[in-house]
Amino acid sequence: MRHRILLVEDEPILRVTLSNDLSEEGYEVTPASDGAEGLARIRERSFDAALLDLKLPKADGLSLLQSFKAANPQGLAIMMTAYGTIQSAIAAMKAGATDYLLKPFPTDELLVLLRGLLAQHAVLSGERTKLPGLRQFGDLIYASEKMARVCDLIATVARSDATVLIQGETGTGKELVARAIHQQSGRRAQPLIPVACAAIPETLLETELFGHEKGAFTGAIRERKGRFELAHRGSLFLDEVADLGPAVQAKLLRVLQEKEFERVGGTQTIKADVRLISATRKRLEDEVVAGRLREDLFYRLKVITVLLPLLRERKEDILPLAAHFLEKYSRPLGKDVRGFSSEACRQLLAYHWPGNIRELEATVQRAVTLTKNTILTAEDLSFEVGLTPTDKTNVPAHPLTDTVREAERRYLQEVLQSVGGQRKRAAEILGISRKTLWKKMKLLGME
Ligand SMILES: Nc1ncnc2c1ncn2[C@@H]1O[C@H](COP(=O)(O)OP(=O)(O)OP(=O)(O)O)[C@@H](O)[C@H]1O
Ligand SMILES: [Mg+2]
Repeated sequence: MRHRILLVEDEPILRVTLSNDLSEEGYEVTPASDGAEGLARIRERSFDAALLDLKLPKADGLSLLQSFKAANPQGLAIMMTAYGTIQSAIAAMKAGATDYLLKPFPTDELLVLLRGLLAQHAVLSGERTKLPGLRQFGDLIYASEKMARVCDLIATVARSDATVLIQGETGTGKELVARAIHQQSGRRAQPLIPVACAAIPETLLETELFGHEKGAFTGAIRERKGRFELAHRGSLFLDEVADLGPAVQAKLLRVLQEKEFERVGGTQTIKADVRLISATRKRLEDEVVAGRLREDLFYRLKVITVLLPLLRERKEDILPLAAHFLEKYSRPLGKDVRGFSSEACRQLLAYHWPGNIRELEATVQRAVTLTKNTILTAEDLSFEVGLTPTDKTNVPAHPLTDTVREAERRYLQEVLQSVGGQRKRAAEILGISRKTLWKKMKLLGME
C-alpha cells in the first residue's frame, strides 16, 4: 500500500523537487503551496504523514499542524524549519509534531527519516504488512533499492548454472544469499554443501573437497567421498574462498574447467555436476596482485559477482530488519515486546554498524532478552556503552543533524552526570535556563 503524504511548502522549487523525489520513492504526494491550500487538502482526505513548512503564508505551520493532527490523529508530522526558528520547532514538537528537519537538508535525509518513522509507526501499531517497502526474497529481508537490485541479480543467476562469487564484509548476508541462489535454482531438490575454507587446515582441505581412496595416506582405512561428490547435482558453497592454498586452487581450477577430478590417492576420474557458489570478505583482485590467488582461478570464480552493500549504505533496511529480529526473538521467549522508541530508532539509524546485519541481529536479540519494557529504548539497545563507534578507520556516515543531536545529547548527559542529575546546576554550567535545558532534554528524548 502506498503511503499518502501531504507536502505544504511555499517555496516553489523546494516544493516541486521534494514532491518529485517523494513520488519517485513510491509515495503518493499531495502538494500545497500555502496554509489555506494545505487546510483545504486536509479537509478533503486522510494522510499517513505531513511535511509542513513552519513559516507559511495564510495560516502558519503550527496551526496547520494542529488541524492535521486533529484530522489524522495517527498521522506523522515532520516540520521543516529554517535555522533561527528552532524555538518554534520546539513548540511544534509539543503540539504533536513527530520530528523536524533544519533547512536546508539533503533529500536523502528526509527520505530516510520518513521511511524510518513510517516503519516505526507500523511496528508500534502492529501493522507489519504496512512496513514501508518491506520485501522478502528467500530468507532475505530488505526495503532498499540497493538490495532490490541484488535480489534481481540473484533471481536471474539462480536459473543458470553460472559460477557465482559473493563479495561483502562480515555479516552482510553472504551465506543467506548463497542459500537463496541454491533455493531458487533447478538444483533445489539436491543439497547445498557448505565448506568453511578458512576453518579447515590446508592439508585436510584437499581430502575434504575431493575425498580420498583407501590407503591414500596413513589413517585412510577406507575410501571417503569428498564434498564435491556429495554436492553432485546440487551446489557447493565455498566460504572464504580467498583462503585456499595453492594445491587446492590448482585442483579446483580443473574441476571448474573440466568438471572432473580424482580423489586423493586415486586414479579413477570422477565426474562432478556441481554448481559452485563462493564467498569472500576480501577483495579477490588484491589477492591476485599479492600472489595468493591464481589469476586463472579468479576469473573462473567471478563469472557473476554479487556485491553485498554495507548495512550503513542501505539505511532503509535497518528498521525493517530490526522489526524482523524483534519478532523472531520475542516470540519464542513469549515476551510482549512490540517495537522501538523513537530515540531507539534514531540510534539504530545513526549507528555505523561495522558488524552489519549480524551485529544488528545480536543487538536486538540481547535487548529483547534482557528488557523489561514493552517498547525497546535506546538504553535497552545499549548504545551508550557497547555500541559507540570506535573504529576510526571507518568513514563516518551520519547525517549532520543526527551527529549534532547525538553530540548534544551526550554532552548534556555528561554534564548532568557530573552534577549528580541536578538540573539547576547543569543549566548553570551550560549557561542556559532550566526551562531551555528541560526542553532540550525532551527534544533529545532524554526524559
Ligand atoms: N537481508 C537479511 N535479512 C534477514 N537476515 C539477514 C539478512 N542478511 C543477513 N541476515 C542475518 O545476519 C546474519 C549474518 O548473515 P550471514 O551469515 O549470511 O553473513 P556473512 O556475510 O556470511 O558473514 P561472515 O562474513 O561473517 O561469514 C545471519 O544470522 C543472517 O541470517
Ligand atoms: Mg558467512
